[in-house]
Amino acid sequence: MKIEVLTLFPDMFAGVMSEGMMWKARERGLLDFSARDIRDYSGDKHRKVDDSPYGGGGGMILKADVLLRAIEAAKPDDAPVILLSPQGRVLTHQVAEALSRQARLILVCGRYEGVDERLRELAITDEISIGDYVLTGGELAAMVLIDAVARLIPGVLGAEGAGQRDSHADGLLEGPHYTRPPEVRGLTVPDVLTSGHHAEVARWRRQEALKRTWQRRPELLKRADLSEADREYLARLAAAEAD
Ligand code: ADE
Repeated sequence: MKIEVLTLFPDMFAGVMSEGMMWKARERGLLDFSARDIRDYSGDKHRKVDDSPYGGGGGMILKADVLLRAIEAAKPDDAPVILLSPQGRVLTHQVAEALSRQARLILVCGRYEGVDERLRELAITDEISIGDYVLTGGELAAMVLIDAVARLIPGVLGAEGAGQRDSHADGLLEGPHYTRPPEVRGLTVPDVLTSGHHAEVARWRRQEALKRTWQRRPELLKRADLSEADREYLARLAAAEAD
């Protein structure tokens, strides 16, 4: 996958894209990343990229003509052009999965009060928010999106299919995990995990995922793919709480 970012702060991406899994993905040739500086497309000797809004009011607006030039330079084909903004559809595992199947993404990072509305009409094909809060710009949101998407590209995570076992992949949160040592300050590990009974371990993990989702994010259960046994377990949890 090739990801191009259009930003006023290309250096912000250097650390995130040069460490850990993002670096491995690049090194393995699974992710081709580049950041373009929007100012290079200002067409102005002062490298101006923003202006005050028509009709008055505070703040500065990123200029549509400048951003269009930057997008056109990045876009020889029909790659999706995604604006990061608090007004977009919210990034979820399902959105990340769909994006991970694209060959190319162009990410446009807004700043200031926003972008000239005509950019949306002329060049933006998708608009994504990483949550209901406002950042000072789209760069951190673009990094979150890149990380969430790149780890789902086949071959990026070590274990094949590891991304399919994540919290949210099947609509549930993951249950608890344990590793050595067997005892930490008096706290031990559930016996089932050391029993060697694979079917029992799988059943316990499923029930713990259901319990955690029910306790922390019950609204997710409405959309999760649940078996009859799952529903019976959830009914038992609800009955136990009512007692
Ligand atoms: N830019 C500013 N706030 C944002 C958000 N919540 N998500 C994506 N881009 C943003």
